[in-house]
Amino acid sequence: MASLSRLPHTLLLLVAAQLSAASFACLPGEPCWPSNDQWRALNTSLGGQLRVTEPMASSCFESSSNYDAKQCAWVSGRYGNDIARASVYGAMQNLQWEGCGEQECLVNTLKPQSPPIQESCSLGALSAYYVNATTTDDVIKTLKFINQTGVRLSIKNSGHDYLGRSVAPNSLALWTRNIRNLEYHEKYSLYNSAESRENIGVIGAGVSAGEARDFFQAKGMDITLGAVGTVGAAGGFGQGAGHGPFGPSYGLMVDQAVEFDVVTADGVFRTINEFSEPDLFWAMRGGGGGTFAVLVNYKFRVYPSVQFTTYSFLANITNTPEDIRDSWVYRSILHAFVQSQPTWSANNISGYNFFCHDKIETHLVYPSDKPLSFLIDLTSEWANFLTSLPGLSIHKHAYEHFNTYKDWATDADYHWIIQRNAPGGMAVVETGRLVPRSLFSPGKNANALVDAMLDGLAAGKKVPGFMMQVYATTPANHPDGEHATSAHPAWRDALWSLDFVSGYFDGTPQTAVAKLWKASRMAIGFIKKLTPGGGCYLNEADYGEEEWQQTFFGANYDKLLSIKRKWDPTGLFRCWKCVGWEADESLDSCYGSKPRATVPLPEVGAEEGAEFRVQGGEGTGFLFQGEL
Ligand SMILES: Cc1cc2nc3c(=O)[nH]c(=O)nc-3n(C[C@H](O)[C@H](O)[C@H](O)COP(=O)(O)OP(=O)(O)OC[C@H]3O[C@@H](n4cnc5c(N)ncnc54)[C@H](O)[C@@H]3O)c2cc1C
Ligand SMILES: *[C@@H]1O[C@H](CO)[C@@H](O)[C@H](O)[C@H]1NC(C)=O
Ligand SMILES: *[C@@H]1O[C@H](CO)[C@@H](O)[C@H](O)[C@H]1NC(C)=O
Ligand SMILES: *[C@@H]1O[C@H](CO)[C@@H](O)[C@H](O)[C@H]1NC(C)=O
Ligand SMILES: *[C@@H]1O[C@H](CO)[C@@H](O)[C@H](O)[C@H]1NC(C)=O
Ligand SMILES: *[C@@H]1O[C@H](CO)[C@@H](O)[C@H](O)[C@H]1NC(C)=O
Repeated sequence: MASLSRLPHTLLLLVAAQLSAASFACLPGEPCWPSNDQWRALNTSLGGQLRVTEPMASSCFESSSNYDAKQCAWVSGRYGNDIARASVYGAMQNLQWEGCGEQECLVNTLKPQSPPIQESCSLGALSAYYVNATTTDDVIKTLKFINQTGVRLSIKNSGHDYLGRSVAPNSLALWTRNIRNLEYHEKYSLYNSAESRENIGVIGAGVSAGEARDFFQAKGMDITLGAVGTVGAAGGFGQGAGHGPFGPSYGLMVDQAVEFDVVTADGVFRTINEFSEPDLFWAMRGGGGGTFAVLVNYKFRVYPSVQFTTYSFLANITNTPEDIRDSWVYRSILHAFVQSQPTWSANNISGYNFFCHDKIETHLVYPSDKPLSFLIDLTSEWANFLTSLPGLSIHKHAYEHFNTYKDWATDADYHWIIQRNAPGGMAVVETGRLVPRSLFSPGKNANALVDAMLDGLAAGKKVPGFMMQVYATTPANHPDGEHATSAHPAWRDALWSLDFVSGYFDGTPQTAVAKLWKASRMAIGFIKKLTPGGGCYLNEADYGEEEWQQTFFGANYDKLLSIKRKWDPTGLFRCWKCVGWEADESLDSCYGSKPRATVPLPEVGAEEGAEFRVQGGEGTGFLFQGEL
């Protein structure tokens, strides 16, 4: 850089302008792309935590430098395991996002390869380099590097995102999984305020739902998570809404948030709450991950632990007519279900329900210390009705009791059942919609809802495993009257989040994949027709959603956009159909017809004896109170 000082002044300005041309779209091979020395310096400043990505299955590819038959056997045995996938950077939970078009490095989860695979192993949409971040300083240094170079940033936590937003080809990835603060405070003083709050949990960006649940359970506390342990708690889940069995009791995850530690696009560490930068705090309570800042610590209300009681009914439907809409059995089940839902929701009973052509599984989940008889009173009519129906082959009809949230979530049966909303190692096809309370009123509306559900199921008739998933986990009793969160207002009115889901394994031809999407989109179309101007949970949605601003953010979009522009004026944080997203064929190539996968990059090592220092990162380490 010293030679720059000898250049004429105007040229210097031009160079400077080019260097700071912060469109964050700099690609390998372009003059803006960092030199090996720059990468090496970054690595050194990060204490050697810059990593070269190895796709999880790379050991199965003969053409890969990681080819290793033993390792391949080990990976193949865990390819569909969500814990194994979430523990490495080089794997996404939903397979389609790991690749970029046809360029990928995947094995078939069902038929693990043991002879080496001949094709090439492409990084697909995974970054060539990722930062294994463990501290706030790592985050600051990464953002500064991005800012200085114009390289694109991606942020990955657990990699569960259904819309592929945790990867971006040819980006530098910030992997947050190892930011693992965990604290419990009976009393917590809010930053920049004389106020304090009781029963506050603090979790680092990378803590998984299961880890958080177990940590707080040991303190006698419950936290408002979902049902699957590997989903992150503070990342996309905690910034996008976060629904789970406590939804009717306490509301969404974003409802519990009292304060965040974040690093904003200017590289500054900030503690934000309703008193300190309230606009940014509001935006990050529902406006989605990857958009406004990097979240480092999530601080939120926790609640004294309660027991769980459940009622489960699982049955095969025998003799289904050719057209499921002609099945009076199915129709009457859905009618009774729709009719009962408002009372269940009002009484804090949540539910996980799965409807297929030939079987139904419904689970009413009641997190409360009230005796089992309470749940029985509220559900006996439903249970008696189901067990008296002809044409069902019942395999489970049971009331159960669990001492804790953990016992429920890790129960052999339950774990497996809930997990099916997306086993790891599959590509998932999903469309969804929030279903408002008004559609449950008896008569015309309820009839229309049942019709639409049957129409939706019928649309997936030819799709193996096609499923209608009905999550009765909404904040049905929590209207957020103060408008303290930015989650889609449709949540406050919804009794269900309903999805039409199927999936496929690697090797499925594109024509077959297109049919799966067509079925899910056609199916949700029937629910959309009943909910004009309505919403969908931005985390459980169709990546192809066209009216995404209205559908994911509703009336909050304009305000969210102005906050986004204020805090991230240069667009350092960019993700697919996130607030402020504008289509760009080259940046979004993996979603389109001209995919451009990540170019592999060499190891650059770390500088010998280089000083561990990065400008501007000082004085932030103390903000971690836990052991990081
Ligand atoms: C099997 C399965 C079960 C699920 N169950 C539920 C459920 O019960 N309830 C529910 O509400 N949702 C559920 N989801 C959806 C889930 O909320 C989303 O997949 C969510 O995006 C996961 O967040 P993550 O941080 O773990 O994932 P990632 O895919 O790693 O990240 C998601 C998004 O957040 C961004 N991000 C991650 N960390 C940060 C950070 N620290 N700062 C800024 N941005 C960040 C990423 O860039 C990305 O855009 C489920 C998903 C799956 C696959
Ligand atoms: C990431 O960093 C943590 C903490 O130093 C370390 O335990 C872990 O092995 C690292 N992981 C990778 C893949 O580098
Ligand atoms: C639902 O749960 C909340 C939180 O525990 C409680 O305040 C409320 O009384 C419960 N409602 C019913 C009907 O049990
Ligand atoms: C990025 O550069 C802009 C303009 O020079 C500056 O305002 C901002 O603070 C920088 N951010 C980081 C993370 O360095
Ligand atoms: C339900 O159907 C599946 C196959 O679709 C079968 O394996 C199972 O035994 C059936 N269960 C009952 C109770 O009928
Ligand atoms: C960063 O440095 C570490 C430690 O020397 C090294 O293991 C790693 O490969 C380096 N990263 C890259 C991208 O070269």
